[in-house]
Amino acid sequence: MSIAIAIDGPAGAGKSTISKSAAKQLGFIYIDTGALYRTVGLAASRAGVEPVEGKEVDDLLSKITVELTFNDKGEQVVLLDKEDVSGLIRTPEASMMASKISAIPSVRAYLLDLQRDMAKKNNVIMDGRDIGTVILPDAKVKIFLTASPEARAERRYKELVEKGMDVKYEDILEDVKTRDYNDMHREIAPLKQADDAILADTTEIDLQGSIDLIVKIIKENS
Ligand code: DC
Repeated sequence: MSIAIAIDGPAGAGKSTISKSAAKQLGFIYIDTGALYRTVGLAASRAGVEPVEGKEVDDLLSKITVELTFNDKGEQVVLLDKEDVSGLIRTPEASMMASKISAIPSVRAYLLDLQRDMAKKNNVIMDGRDIGTVILPDAKVKIFLTASPEARAERRYKELVEKGMDVKYEDILEDVKTRDYNDMHREIAPLKQADDAILADTTEIDLQGSIDLIVKIIKENS
């Protein structure tokens, strides 16, 4: 039987960096489910399809293939119609598109089996918004990882600036708040802490401290 660890929380809480590092230490596969929604969002942008519920999005889903693979460093690679789009889905525009498209029920249904299959076949640390509540309700350990919107915007801002992107802190904070609102208020699979999830707030904790905390929680509870 494989073991699943679910890590949910809002955008920019450090879920991916922390989960990746914890997975490495514990010998688990790390799965970033946000990348899947970003990929569907990219497909919609390319096709000129509005991210609203309806036939256009459903038709798009019937035409595309989204796959999760891993490179030789063990890093996740996401393929859209066999093209590696792992880098292309990391822009602020792609974030906003993903937030909108992820509110559509047929998109969530489309990506559900892919996520469950990965967890069936591997020991995984899976991060997202609804992993503990919807995708893997029987996960061995569930963690709700969060931090204040300001702390999260600051971290994302630094990350994008380091990548050479020309962005403003105020815009990022606005994006963070909008995405929080969208993610928490959508009808289907909204972002919320599962009843049996452990809360980890990293507002006042640095990256290494956050990784240590998550590894400790996983070890103590699995
Ligand atoms: O984690 P992220 O920022 O890459 O996620 C991008 C968007 O996808 C985010 O706004 C919410 C959505 N998402 C989701 O609805 N469910 C998930 N399991 C993961 C992400």
